[in-house]
Amino acid sequence: MCGIVGYVGTDQSVEVLLGGLRRLEYRGYDSAGIAVIDPLGRLGTRKRAGKLQVLIDDLEANPLANGATGIGHTRWATHGGPNDENAHPHLGDEGRLALIHNGIIENFAELKAELLLRHPATVFTSETDSEVAALLVGLEYQKTHDLSLALRTVVGRLNGAFTLLVLHKDQPGVVVGARRNSPLVIGLGDGENFLGSDVAAFIEHTHRAMEIGQDQVVTITPDSVTVTDFAGRPVETREFQVEWDASASEKGGWSSFMAKEISEEPVAVANTLIGRIVDGAVHLPELDTLGAGVLEGLDRIVLIGCGTAAYSAMLGKYAIEKWAKIPVDVELSHEFRYRDPVVSERTLVVSISQSGETMDTLMAVKYARELGARTLSICNTQGSTIPRESDAVVYTHAGPEVAVASTKAFVAQVAAIYLFALRVAEVRGTLAASEIASLLGELGAVPDQLAWVLEQQDSIKQLAGWMTDTRSVIFLGRHAGYPIALEGALKLKEVAYIHSEGFAAGELKHGPIALIEPGQPVFVIVPSPRAKDSLHKKVVSNIQEIRARGARILAIAEEGDVAVLPYADTVIRIPLASTLFEPLLAVVPLHIFAMELASAKGLDVDQPRNLAKSVTVE
Ligand code: F6R
Repeated sequence: MCGIVGYVGTDQSVEVLLGGLRRLEYRGYDSAGIAVIDPLGRLGTRKRAGKLQVLIDDLEANPLANGATGIGHTRWATHGGPNDENAHPHLGDEGRLALIHNGIIENFAELKAELLLRHPATVFTSETDSEVAALLVGLEYQKTHDLSLALRTVVGRLNGAFTLLVLHKDQPGVVVGARRNSPLVIGLGDGENFLGSDVAAFIEHTHRAMEIGQDQVVTITPDSVTVTDFAGRPVETREFQVEWDASASEKGGWSSFMAKEISEEPVAVANTLIGRIVDGAVHLPELDTLGAGVLEGLDRIVLIGCGTAAYSAMLGKYAIEKWAKIPVDVELSHEFRYRDPVVSERTLVVSISQSGETMDTLMAVKYARELGARTLSICNTQGSTIPRESDAVVYTHAGPEVAVASTKAFVAQVAAIYLFALRVAEVRGTLAASEIASLLGELGAVPDQLAWVLEQQDSIKQLAGWMTDTRSVIFLGRHAGYPIALEGALKLKEVAYIHSEGFAAGELKHGPIALIEPGQPVFVIVPSPRAKDSLHKKVVSNIQEIRARGARILAIAEEGDVAVLPYADTVIRIPLASTLFEPLLAVVPLHIFAMELASAKGLDVDQPRNLAKSVTVE
C-alpha cells in the first residue's frame, strides 16, 4: 500500500518520479504527489487527490521547476481521507524539508501531543500520521543539519510499520530513506540512484538493485549509496540483478493489465517450472537452506496466505497430503498470527505471497520463527521482505503482476506448491519415482492446456456481457474445485462489485441452498467423470438439486462430459486433467468472467475501488 519513489541524478527528476509512480500506482491510487529540489536550491511540491493522472494533468498545466533530486508518492489512505491536504509529501523545517511515508505510525497521537506541548505554535495542515514524522525530522535537522542523523533519531521513536523518504532543500543531491516492516529497495544507476517500494519504481532505468534490511537507513547521492542501522553503524548489503524487464510491467496493447496478466497465465506456469523438472524428478536446490534433514523430519506443514494466495494454499494442502502424506493446515495469515498456534521445530510454515510484502503474512512468518518453526516462502517478487525473513524461498516466475486482482500469480503459486509437494514426496519416499515423473508430466502439460482454455475468451465475454445486471452469483466446487469456487467469487466481488459467494457443493443442503431462487446464476466447477472417486456424480446431483429450484447453471466441465448437458444452461469446457490439475484450468474462465463483466459495466478492472495491490498494513 502506497508507492514510494526517490531519485538523485540528472535534472529530470519530475519525469523519473512520474514514471516510477505510474509503475507503482497499483499500490494505492487515492492521491499522488512529488517534491523536487530545483537547480536554484528551491523545494517545489505538488500533490493532488485522485489517480496519478490528476497530478500529471496538473503538472502539465502548471509545471514544477525540474531538478536532480526528488521524491514521489502514490497513496492508499489510512489516517485521513483521500484529499489534497492528506496527500504526500508532507513538509517540515518550515517548508524546507519534504517527507513521504508508507505504513502506519501507531504512536503518532502521543508524538503529536508531545510536539504540541514543546512547540504550541505548530500548525498541522493534514490529518495524517506522516506529517508528524515530517515535523519531527525537521526539528531534528535544525539541531545538526545532518539529514540521515535527523531521520535516524526520529525513526528510533516510531512504533508501527513505515518506509520514510526525506529530502531537504539545503541538501541537494541527497535522499535519505528508512524502513521497518514496510518495503524499500535501492536501484543502482550510473551517476544516478533510486529508491522504490519495489523494483518497478526504477526498472526503466536500471536492473541493478540492492536490498535494505529491517530497521536500516539508506542515503543516496548520484554517486554513492550508504546503508546503516538505526544507530548509524554500517551494515552489509546484498546486490541483485532484477530479472523482470521494463516491458513486462507495461500494458502493451492490452485493454487492461488484468487482461494482459490473464493471457500470461500459461507462461507464468511455464516459467515457474523451467529448470525445476530434471529427468522426471524435481530440482529445487532452493530448499537446501531449510537445513539438512528438515523435510525428512517434518511432522506437520502449515500453509499461510491471504486472499487468492490462501486459495492456492488450500490446493497445496490437497497435494501435499495426497502425495507426501504429511498433515497440512491452511490458515489465513492474520488468523494464524493472533491465536496460539501449536508449532514446533518439526513444523514447516510455508507462506504464499505474490508481493512478498503482505503485512499480515510477514508478521505471521516472523511469529512462526519466534515459535521455533522452519519457514519457507513461495513468492513472486525479488527483493521483497517475506523471502528475506524466511529460511528458504521458492520464487514463482509469473513476472510483475500489476492489476490489483491476482490472476497469473495464482496459477504460478499452485505450480510452485505442487513442485514442492512432489519434492517432499520424493524425499520421504511416499511416491515411487515413476509416479512422480508421471505427475510432473501432467504439471508440464498445464501451460498448453491453459492456452487452450484462453481460446474460449470470446464466449465467456459474451456470457459476461449478458449478465451486467446480475446482483448475486454463487460459485460451487467440491474438493479441489472448492478453492476455485472461492477464487471465482473473490474475483467477481473485487473487480465487478457483485455480491458473490463460493461454497463447497456438499455444504449446500446445510444452509446456502436457501439462497437459490428462480434465475439465480450458479457457477459449478464439475470434477472429472474419469476420476476414481464419486465426486462427479455427487456434483451432478447437486446441480440437479439447485436446478430444480430455478438456478441458472453455468458449468465448467471437462471436454466430453455429457452428464452435465441436460442440466446446464451454459457449459464452459476445459481440457481433460486429473483431479488436482483440473483447478488450474477451471480458474481461468472465472478470471476472464470477472474481468469481462467488470469491463462491461464500465469499471476500471486494474484499480478497483477501496483496494490496493500490496497490503502493507495489518
Ligand atoms: C485477490 C488479491 C488478494 C491477494 C492478497 C495477498 O485478487 O489479489 O486477495 O491475493 O492480498 O497478496 P499477496 O499474494 O501479495 O500476499
